[in-house]
Amino acid sequence: MPVGTVRGDHLWKRFRSQYARPLLRDHLQQFGTGRPRKGDWTWVLKDVNLHVQPGESIALVGLNGSGKSTLLKLLSRVMYPNAGSVNAVGRLGALIEVRAGIHPDLTGRENVFFYGTVLGLTRRQVAARFDDIIQFAELEDAVDRQVKFYSSGMQMRLGFGIAAFLEPDILLVDEVLAVGDVGFQQRCLERMRLVLQQGTTLVFVSHDMAAVEAMCARAVWLDRAVMVADGPVEDVLLAYRKGLKERADEYSKALRDPIRVAGVASSSPEGENPLAGGPVDLTLTLDADGDHEVQMCLGVSQGPAQPIFILNHDTVIPDGMSRITCRIASLPLPRGRYYLWAAAFGKGGVSRMGWQPVYGLDVEGQARTDAPRGIMLLSPVHVRAYWTEDADVADLDSEAARSSLASVYRDLGIPERVPGDD
Ligand SMILES: Nc1ncnc2c1ncn2[C@@H]1O[C@H](COP(=O)(O)OP(=O)(O)OP(=O)(O)O)[C@@H](O)[C@H]1O
Ligand SMILES: [Mg+2]
Repeated sequence: MPVGTVRGDHLWKRFRSQYARPLLRDHLQQFGTGRPRKGDWTWVLKDVNLHVQPGESIALVGLNGSGKSTLLKLLSRVMYPNAGSVNAVGRLGALIEVRAGIHPDLTGRENVFFYGTVLGLTRRQVAARFDDIIQFAELEDAVDRQVKFYSSGMQMRLGFGIAAFLEPDILLVDEVLAVGDVGFQQRCLERMRLVLQQGTTLVFVSHDMAAVEAMCARAVWLDRAVMVADGPVEDVLLAYRKGLKERADEYSKALRDPIRVAGVASSSPEGENPLAGGPVDLTLTLDADGDHEVQMCLGVSQGPAQPIFILNHDTVIPDGMSRITCRIASLPLPRGRYYLWAAAFGKGGVSRMGWQPVYGLDVEGQARTDAPRGIMLLSPVHVRAYWTEDADVADLDSEAARSSLASVYRDLGIPERVPGDD
């Protein structure tokens, strides 16, 4: 197999469900029946197959506890499967847990050299990359401190720096973005993009769908130990988000609110499905116990509970069945499937209707503008834009342009660096 290939075939992994104190009785029972008590084990991965080609970027998505980290641990041989086989060809950089691979009693400097040696680099090779790692991780002041005295963000930065800078053929990354600050998140994505360009294989685990979309072409969805989807990242995320929405549906059905949604409809000049940038009417039929003075809140999301935008309206919902319509003059969404969420809050923010998905909305027309790899879009929006080009702009007022740029940097709180300086 070529360098950079990652293969997991028919992987099965189980753990003991509970780490109860082992009792003599358990041992006796075990001896008696010849095997452990039934129900003691939970399968965390069931017959998972993962084939990644050299240079591919693949994401693992799934709810908490679905087995993503376990799969990465098997691929990096931190753990072994109960059945199945793992093949990863080439040098492996892995950031699996904040501290995996990093030794708390060693200093930052010692960790870099230690890990480099584990990866099979010579001391000289590591030394050549040392400054880059420390600079990337912004640990100049802390290199000679023991890692156990680092903050969790610092440990993660060191771990990621080591994994991503020691020129791995395969890079496994689990949730790095979670503990980093915003600036570091962007640098991580930038670094992963570079590493991908150099032909490294990337397996990336994240709950941040925007980051997943920005980094990966392919995605795998794990749900309760089983691989339920494997394909192009857009398709898998679409299915995954739909799954998240269905979970929320089940959850909200269990609640009994004084106001409930009995039905939802959308209409636009084109029919039921609106166009990107076009108008749409959203009509909710509500069923209430008694009159309620509320703030109605509508939001549109791609599935999960975090909406792309929100609309609020103060109103009175009368007892019994009633209808309320919200007209959006120009829908700021590109083509795709979205979900309408709704809630109603009474005085003092008391919930009268919990935040819940109520409707699936298909938008037609213009597709979303693709972002270059490594640039993270928070959510899709449709922006109508007109571009113009001017050739020959010798009379450009560069002094004015500079000072306006400087004020932008000031507003953003970024250290001023106007092009042309340095
Ligand atoms: N060493 C272990 N011993 C016992 N159970 C474990 C062990 N490691 C993981 N598990 C269990 O395996 C299941 C899957 O865990 P895993 O860490 O792979 O999930 P995950 O998909 O990475 O979730 P998250 O999104 O929360 O990171 C969980 O139920 C977890 O409790
Ligand atoms: Mg995990």
